[in-house]
Amino acid sequence: MNIILLGPPGAGKGTQAKKLVDSRGMVQLSTGDMLRAARTSGTEMGKKVAAIMDAGQLVTDEIVIGLIEEQLTSTRAPGGFIFDGFPRTLAQADALGELLARVGQNLATVIEMRVDDAALVDRITGRYTCGDCGEGYHDTAKPPAKAGICDNCGGGNFKRRADDNEDSLKIRLMAYYKETSPLIGYYYAKGLLQVVDGLASMDEVAAAIGGALENVD
Ligand code: AP5
Repeated sequence: MNIILLGPPGAGKGTQAKKLVDSRGMVQLSTGDMLRAARTSGTEMGKKVAAIMDAGQLVTDEIVIGLIEEQLTSTRAPGGFIFDGFPRTLAQADALGELLARVGQNLATVIEMRVDDAALVDRITGRYTCGDCGEGYHDTAKPPAKAGICDNCGGGNFKRRADDNEDSLKIRLMAYYKETSPLIGYYYAKGLLQVVDGLASMDEVAAAIGGALENVD
């Protein structure tokens, strides 16, 4: 079962994708993570996208479609793929439909995580991750059980994203409303859209997503 988690920056897409990986053995395909990995490894593409990402703008369709194509044609995912942060434009949505058809697969559902903008500032500015294992945290919503020590791996090397500040968030939100929100209508018209309340607690959102997946199981 292949699904899209759709929502603005900070809606909780990455948080819920990781829960689905753990609970259902699905494979998370996050274009944001792929682009950050390209930056860290210093590839030409990574250098090209770094400034665009830090400014909160969208990377070109060509680059992200290429990344997804590479993963879809090389990764086995018996539990299905979770598309996290992709597609983000109508061109990307069309390309995803074509790529899935080419590998003999389809899209089971698109889950819109609905949140309001005011909550996003706190979520984004409070977010950090463990630099050793990637576990995600938040200053107030999800601090580690023991301050300064990762619950998952015991490391203490926490980091914050360069684009997790209010100025960049404003640009990322503009990009979401201008380029990505038309996908809500696009997938509604295809009969694939389901909506969950992204403002609920993490466990409540996970339960709502579980219910949405039962509708299409
Ligand atoms: P990307 O990495 O995709 O970032 P994003 O879409 O802006 O989403 P985020 O990762 O910021 O938020 P999220 O929804 O995953 O929230 P999270 O679960 O972490 O993209 C980064 C950049 O890469 C883009 O700006 C662009 O430049 C480029 N890019 C990527 N894909 C692209 C594409 N397809 N096309 C073009 N460019 C692309 O949660 C946030 C915080 O809130 C966490 O601290 C978490 O603990 C907390 N939280 C989560 N859920 C809850 C809850 N229910 N209650 C309380 N707190 C919660």
